[in-house]
Amino acid sequence: MSAVLVTGAASGIGRATALALAEAGRPLVLWDLHATALEAVATECRAKGVLVTTATFDVTDTDARAAAIRDARSAHETLGGLVHAAGISGPQPISAFTSSEWSRVLEVNLTTAAALTSELHVPLIEAGDGSVVYLSSIEGFFGHQWLPAYCASKAGLLGLARASAHELGQFGVRVNCVCPGAVQTPMLEPFLDLGDNRATIISRTPLGRLAQPDDIADAIVFLLSSKARFITGASLVVDGGLTAISGI
Ligand SMILES: NC(=O)c1ccc[n+]([C@@H]2O[C@H](COP(=O)([O-])OP(=O)(O)OC[C@H]3O[C@@H](n4cnc5c(N)ncnc54)[C@H](O)[C@@H]3O)[C@@H](O)[C@H]2O)c1
Repeated sequence: MSAVLVTGAASGIGRATALALAEAGRPLVLWDLHATALEAVATECRAKGVLVTTATFDVTDTDARAAAIRDARSAHETLGGLVHAAGISGPQPISAFTSSEWSRVLEVNLTTAAALTSELHVPLIEAGDGSVVYLSSIEGFFGHQWLPAYCASKAGLLGLARASAHELGQFGVRVNCVCPGAVQTPMLEPFLDLGDNRATIISRTPLGRLAQPDDIADAIVFLLSSKARFITGASLVVDGGLTAISGI
């Protein structure tokens, strides 16, 4: 089986995705900013019997990224999957816009997804069944007053997936988005702890709970697998029904 690169693998959805992929027998390349947490995830994945390599750096750093890609390609026979789970929310309403905050959110969430897809398109094609999954969000469809840059980045990923799916489909590479609702991770905890946000979201969710990271990881593993072989340019909403009846 070909290896999968997971960015943002030290926490939340990236971590759960790494563990689920290891369970499925996929070799892994794991990247994150946080070395200690990343190594802990790598150790858990290795215990499932797969080859795991890691790199600790800021994924927006183009030189560090190029070096990490070189290392990954020399350590793994084939690199057939990419999951861009590294992401930041950068809460800042549009009335308080600063270009530095805006650019940072777009750079981490969207531009790096595009750059990585470009930088990895050759190994993804060589793998024969390459598959890319971006972590978009239901905020790619809805707006939230605190998250203009985040919402723009997540909507941008939907467009990026469609456009990349168009170009790379002829080479057998699929590109899709997963759009989670509210997932209990360190990113969302501060928001959940504000006022009655947690209870409100749960009450608006037909399945009656927050998502856990492995609810999202299982959808990602599906999209990376041959079970999803005719799915590309798509957005898979995994939100317990939240957007079927409302939004956050
Ligand atoms: N939690 C949710 O409710 C939710 C909902 C929809 C979408 N998402 C998306 O899912 C993805 C994962 O979110 P999460 O909730 O697991 O968050 P998280 O904060 O738990 O994990 C994100 C990881 O990305 C890493 N990261 C962030 N910036 C990085 C950088 N520049 N370079 C390297 N690593 C970096 C962090 O260190 C962290 O380990 C994000 O793209 C997020 O927008 C989350």
